[in-house]
Amino acid sequence: MTSKLFAKLPPDLNPQNLPQHVAVIMDGNGRWATRRGLPRIAGHRQGAKTLKELLRCCKDWGIKALTAYAFSTENWRRPIEEVDFLLHLFERLLRRELTQMHREGVRISFIGDLSLLPKSLQTEMQRSMAQTLYNQAIHFTVAVNYGSRNEIIKACRELAELVQQGELKPQQINESLVAQHLYTTDTPEPDLLIRTSGEMRLSNFLLWQLAYTEIYFTDIFWPDFDRTAFHQALLSYQKRDRRFGQIQASA
Ligand code: IPE
Ligand code: IPE
Ligand code: MG
Repeated sequence: MTSKLFAKLPPDLNPQNLPQHVAVIMDGNGRWATRRGLPRIAGHRQGAKTLKELLRCCKDWGIKALTAYAFSTENWRRPIEEVDFLLHLFERLLRRELTQMHREGVRISFIGDLSLLPKSLQTEMQRSMAQTLYNQAIHFTVAVNYGSRNEIIKACRELAELVQQGELKPQQINESLVAQHLYTTDTPEPDLLIRTSGEMRLSNFLLWQLAYTEIYFTDIFWPDFDRTAFHQALLSYQKRDRRFGQIQASA
Protein backbone atom coordinates (compact mmCIF):
# COMPACT_ATOMS: atom_id res chain seq x y z
CA MET A 1 0.00 0.00 0.00
CA THR A 2 2.63 2.50 1.11
CA SER A 3 4.96 1.56 -1.73
CA LYS A 4 2.17 2.14 -4.23
CA LEU A 5 1.30 5.53 -2.73
CA PHE A 6 4.88 6.75 -2.94
CA ALA A 7 5.66 4.94 -6.18
CA LYS A 8 6.69 8.09 -7.95
CA LEU A 9 8.59 9.67 -5.08
CA PRO A 10 12.28 10.14 -6.00
CA PRO A 11 14.30 7.49 -4.13
CA ASP A 12 16.53 10.04 -2.38
CA LEU A 13 13.50 11.48 -0.57
CA ASN A 14 12.40 9.92 2.69
CA PRO A 15 8.65 9.27 2.55
CA GLN A 16 8.52 9.42 6.38
CA ASN A 17 9.87 12.96 6.48
CA LEU A 18 7.87 14.81 3.86
CA PRO A 19 6.21 18.10 4.74
CA GLN A 20 2.51 17.49 5.29
CA HIS A 21 1.69 21.01 4.17
CA VAL A 22 3.65 23.06 1.64
CA ALA A 23 2.98 26.78 1.10
CA VAL A 24 4.27 28.71 -1.91
CA ILE A 25 4.73 32.39 -2.69
CA MET A 26 4.59 32.16 -6.47
CA ASP A 27 6.82 35.06 -7.44
CA GLY A 28 8.63 36.09 -10.62
CA ASN A 29 5.95 35.66 -13.30
CA GLY A 30 6.43 39.20 -14.59
CA ARG A 31 10.23 38.99 -14.76
CA TRP A 32 10.04 35.57 -16.42
CA ALA A 33 7.93 37.08 -19.20
CA THR A 34 9.92 40.31 -19.53
CA ARG A 35 13.15 38.34 -19.96
CA ARG A 36 11.55 36.61 -22.93
CA GLY A 37 10.29 39.84 -24.43
CA LEU A 38 6.71 38.86 -23.58
CA PRO A 39 3.99 40.85 -21.79
CA ARG A 40 3.78 40.20 -18.04
CA ILE A 41 0.47 38.41 -18.43
CA ALA A 42 2.21 35.66 -20.39
CA GLY A 43 4.13 34.95 -17.19
CA HIS A 44 0.90 34.64 -15.21
CA ARG A 45 -0.51 32.24 -17.79
CA GLN A 46 2.59 30.07 -17.57
CA GLY A 47 2.62 30.40 -13.78
CA ALA A 48 -0.87 28.91 -13.62
CA LYS A 49 0.40 25.83 -15.48
CA THR A 50 3.25 25.53 -13.00
CA LEU A 51 0.80 25.58 -10.11
CA LYS A 52 -1.34 22.89 -11.70
CA GLU A 53 1.77 20.71 -12.13
CA LEU A 54 2.89 21.30 -8.55
CA LEU A 55 -0.53 20.29 -7.25
CA ARG A 56 -0.33 17.05 -9.21
CA CYS A 57 3.21 16.44 -7.99
CA CYS A 58 2.25 16.97 -4.34
CA LYS A 59 -0.61 14.53 -4.78
CA ASP A 60 1.64 11.95 -6.47
CA TRP A 61 4.24 12.22 -3.74
CA GLY A 62 1.83 11.98 -0.81
CA ILE A 63 1.86 15.59 0.40
CA LYS A 64 -1.52 16.29 1.96
CA ALA A 65 -1.84 20.08 1.67
CA LEU A 66 -0.68 22.81 -0.70
CA THR A 67 -1.36 26.51 -0.17
CA ALA A 68 -0.54 29.03 -2.91
CA TYR A 69 -0.42 32.82 -2.70
CA ALA A 70 -2.12 34.01 -5.88
CA PHE A 71 -3.13 37.62 -5.18
CA SER A 72 -2.30 39.81 -2.20
CA THR A 73 -4.27 42.69 -0.71
CA GLU A 74 -1.39 44.85 -1.99
CA ASN A 75 -1.62 43.55 -5.58
CA TRP A 76 -4.58 45.90 -6.28
CA ARG A 77 -1.89 48.56 -6.66
CA ARG A 78 -0.86 47.06 -10.01
CA PRO A 79 -2.10 48.43 -13.35
CA ILE A 80 -5.80 47.74 -13.81
CA GLU A 81 -5.17 45.65 -16.93
CA GLU A 82 -2.94 43.25 -15.01
CA VAL A 83 -5.37 42.99 -12.08
CA ASP A 84 -8.24 42.32 -14.51
CA PHE A 85 -6.26 39.70 -16.34
CA LEU A 86 -5.42 37.88 -13.10
CA LEU A 87 -9.01 37.87 -11.83
CA HIS A 88 -10.27 36.58 -15.18
CA LEU A 89 -7.54 33.96 -15.24
CA PHE A 90 -8.62 32.63 -11.82
CA GLU A 91 -12.21 32.37 -12.98
CA ARG A 92 -11.34 30.73 -16.29
CA LEU A 93 -9.09 28.20 -14.60
CA LEU A 94 -11.69 27.32 -12.01
CA ARG A 95 -14.35 26.74 -14.65
CA ARG A 96 -11.96 24.66 -16.73
CA GLU A 97 -10.21 22.62 -14.03
CA LEU A 98 -12.84 22.03 -11.36
CA THR A 99 -14.29 18.79 -12.77
CA GLN A 100 -10.87 17.22 -13.13
CA MET A 101 -9.70 18.35 -9.69
CA HIS A 102 -12.88 17.00 -8.13
CA ARG A 103 -12.40 13.69 -9.93
CA GLU A 104 -8.86 13.48 -8.56
CA GLY A 105 -10.07 14.01 -5.00
CA VAL A 106 -8.77 17.56 -4.54
CA ARG A 107 -10.44 19.63 -1.87
CA ILE A 108 -10.18 23.28 -2.88
CA SER A 109 -10.42 26.26 -0.52
CA PHE A 110 -9.98 29.97 -1.06
CA ILE A 111 -8.69 32.23 1.69
CA GLY A 112 -8.69 36.03 1.77
CA ASP A 113 -11.35 38.71 1.66
CA LEU A 114 -13.35 37.23 -1.19
CA SER A 115 -16.15 39.79 -0.80
CA LEU A 116 -14.17 42.36 -2.81
CA LEU A 117 -13.76 40.06 -5.83
CA PRO A 118 -16.05 40.12 -8.89
CA LYS A 119 -19.38 38.43 -8.13
CA SER A 120 -19.01 35.82 -10.87
CA LEU A 121 -15.61 34.80 -9.47
CA GLN A 122 -17.05 34.59 -5.96
CA THR A 123 -19.81 32.32 -7.26
CA GLU A 124 -17.30 29.96 -8.89
CA MET A 125 -15.20 29.93 -5.73
CA GLN A 126 -18.14 29.12 -3.45
CA ARG A 127 -19.34 26.44 -5.84
CA SER A 128 -15.93 24.76 -6.03
CA MET A 129 -15.44 24.86 -2.25
CA ALA A 130 -18.87 23.33 -1.62
CA GLN A 131 -18.47 20.67 -4.29
CA THR A 132 -15.05 19.46 -3.13
CA LEU A 133 -15.51 19.88 0.63
CA TYR A 134 -15.31 16.18 1.46
CA ASN A 135 -12.47 15.25 -0.92
CA GLN A 136 -9.50 13.67 0.80
CA ALA A 137 -6.60 13.26 -1.65
CA ILE A 138 -5.10 16.71 -1.07
CA HIS A 139 -6.23 20.03 0.39
CA PHE A 140 -5.45 22.80 -2.08
CA THR A 141 -5.81 26.32 -0.72
CA VAL A 142 -5.50 29.42 -2.89
CA ALA A 143 -5.00 32.81 -1.25
CA VAL A 144 -6.78 35.51 -3.24
CA ASN A 145 -7.09 39.09 -1.98
CA TYR A 146 -5.28 37.68 1.01
CA GLY A 147 -3.30 39.73 3.52
CA SER A 148 -2.12 38.32 6.80
CA ARG A 149 -2.54 41.56 8.74
CA ASN A 150 -6.15 41.83 7.56
CA GLU A 151 -6.70 38.25 8.60
CA ILE A 152 -5.37 38.91 12.10
CA ILE A 153 -7.54 42.05 12.38
CA LYS A 154 -10.56 39.95 11.37
CA ALA A 155 -9.77 37.46 14.14
CA CYS A 156 -9.36 40.29 16.70
CA ARG A 157 -12.73 41.77 15.74
CA GLU A 158 -14.51 38.43 16.00
CA LEU A 159 -13.01 37.74 19.41
CA ALA A 160 -13.79 41.27 20.61
CA GLU A 161 -17.42 40.75 19.62
CA LEU A 162 -17.59 37.51 21.57
CA VAL A 163 -16.21 39.32 24.60
CA GLN A 164 -18.67 42.17 24.14
CA GLN A 165 -21.56 39.70 23.97
CA GLY A 166 -20.36 38.14 27.21
CA GLU A 167 -19.58 34.81 25.55
CA LEU A 168 -15.85 34.96 26.15
CA LYS A 169 -13.54 36.34 28.84
CA PRO A 170 -10.35 38.13 27.69
CA GLN A 171 -8.27 35.70 29.80
CA GLN A 172 -9.68 32.81 27.76
CA ILE A 173 -8.12 34.08 24.53
CA ASN A 174 -5.24 31.77 23.68
CA GLU A 175 -3.26 30.64 20.61
CA SER A 176 -5.72 28.00 19.59
CA LEU A 177 -8.68 30.38 19.81
CA VAL A 178 -6.91 33.00 17.69
CA ALA A 179 -5.98 30.30 15.15
CA GLN A 180 -9.62 29.22 14.96
CA HIS A 181 -10.60 32.71 13.84
CA LEU A 182 -8.09 32.88 10.99
CA TYR A 183 -9.07 31.86 7.43
CA THR A 184 -6.92 28.76 7.81
CA THR A 185 -8.94 27.51 10.75
CA ASP A 186 -9.08 23.82 9.81
CA THR A 187 -5.66 23.48 8.13
CA PRO A 188 -2.48 22.46 9.97
CA GLU A 189 0.32 25.04 9.78
CA PRO A 190 2.70 24.78 6.79
CA ASP A 191 5.84 22.72 7.35
CA LEU A 192 7.63 24.24 4.36
CA LEU A 193 7.30 27.64 2.68
CA ILE A 194 8.84 28.13 -0.75
CA ARG A 195 9.35 31.56 -2.32
CA THR A 196 10.63 31.74 -5.86
CA SER A 197 12.38 34.53 -7.83
CA GLY A 198 15.09 35.40 -5.31
CA GLU A 199 12.98 37.70 -3.12
CA MET A 200 13.48 36.98 0.56
CA ARG A 201 10.44 38.37 2.30
CA LEU A 202 6.98 37.23 3.35
CA SER A 203 4.95 40.00 1.67
CA ASN A 204 2.13 39.71 4.23
CA PHE A 205 1.61 35.96 3.78
CA LEU A 206 0.50 33.72 6.69
CA LEU A 207 2.43 35.69 9.32
CA TRP A 208 0.83 33.81 12.22
CA GLN A 209 0.82 30.37 10.59
CA LEU A 210 4.49 30.46 9.53
CA ALA A 211 5.84 30.89 13.07
CA TYR A 212 7.70 27.55 12.94
CA THR A 213 7.71 26.81 9.21
CA GLU A 214 10.95 25.97 7.39
CA ILE A 215 11.60 28.54 4.65
CA TYR A 216 13.20 27.81 1.28
CA PHE A 217 14.17 30.55 -1.16
CA THR A 218 15.17 29.90 -4.74
CA ASP A 219 16.21 32.23 -7.56
CA ILE A 220 14.10 30.30 -10.06
CA PHE A 221 11.17 32.32 -11.44
CA TRP A 222 7.81 30.77 -10.65
CA PRO A 223 6.94 29.68 -14.23
CA ASP A 224 10.14 27.59 -14.26
CA PHE A 225 9.54 25.96 -10.87
CA ASP A 226 9.14 22.36 -12.04
CA ARG A 227 9.30 18.93 -10.37
CA THR A 228 13.09 19.01 -10.33
CA ALA A 229 13.08 22.36 -8.53
CA PHE A 230 10.48 21.09 -6.05
CA HIS A 231 12.56 17.97 -5.50
CA GLN A 232 15.51 20.23 -4.55
CA ALA A 233 13.32 22.14 -2.09
CA LEU A 234 12.23 18.89 -0.46
CA LEU A 235 15.82 17.64 -0.21
CA SER A 236 16.73 20.87 1.56
CA TYR A 237 13.72 20.46 3.87
CA GLN A 238 14.76 16.93 4.78
CA LYS A 239 18.18 18.18 5.92
CA ARG A 240 16.65 20.61 8.41
CA ASP A 241 16.64 20.04 12.14
CA ARG A 242 13.24 21.28 13.34
CA ARG A 243 13.90 22.06 16.97
CA PHE A 244 10.81 24.11 17.93
CA GLY A 245 12.81 25.83 20.66
CA GLN A 246 14.32 22.65 22.07
CA ILE A 247 17.99 21.72 21.97
CA GLN A 248 17.46 18.67 19.79
CA ALA A 249 14.67 17.84 17.39
CA SER A 250 12.45 15.32 19.13
CA ALA A 251 12.19 11.94 17.44
C1 IPE B 1 3.83 36.67 -8.92
O1 IPE B 1 4.61 37.16 -9.95
C2 IPE B 1 2.36 36.63 -9.26
C3 IPE B 1 1.55 37.62 -8.56
C4 IPE B 1 1.93 38.44 -7.64
C5 IPE B 1 0.15 37.66 -8.93
P1 IPE B 1 4.84 38.70 -10.12
O2 IPE B 1 3.74 39.25 -10.98
O3 IPE B 1 4.97 39.36 -8.80
O4 IPE B 1 6.20 38.73 -10.91
P2 IPE B 1 7.39 39.74 -10.69
O5 IPE B 1 7.76 39.70 -9.24
O6 IPE B 1 6.88 41.10 -11.09
O7 IPE B 1 8.47 39.24 -11.59
C1 IPE C 1 3.64 38.38 -3.34
O1 IPE C 1 4.32 38.72 -4.48
C2 IPE C 1 2.20 38.13 -3.65
C3 IPE C 1 1.94 36.96 -4.48
C4 IPE C 1 2.81 36.09 -4.89
C5 IPE C 1 0.56 36.77 -4.84
P1 IPE C 1 4.58 40.24 -4.88
O2 IPE C 1 5.41 40.25 -6.09
O3 IPE C 1 3.29 40.98 -4.94
O4 IPE C 1 5.39 40.77 -3.61
P2 IPE C 1 6.33 42.03 -3.43
O5 IPE C 1 5.54 43.23 -3.85
O6 IPE C 1 7.51 41.83 -4.33
O7 IPE C 1 6.70 42.03 -1.99
MG1 MG D 1 6.56 39.77 -7.60
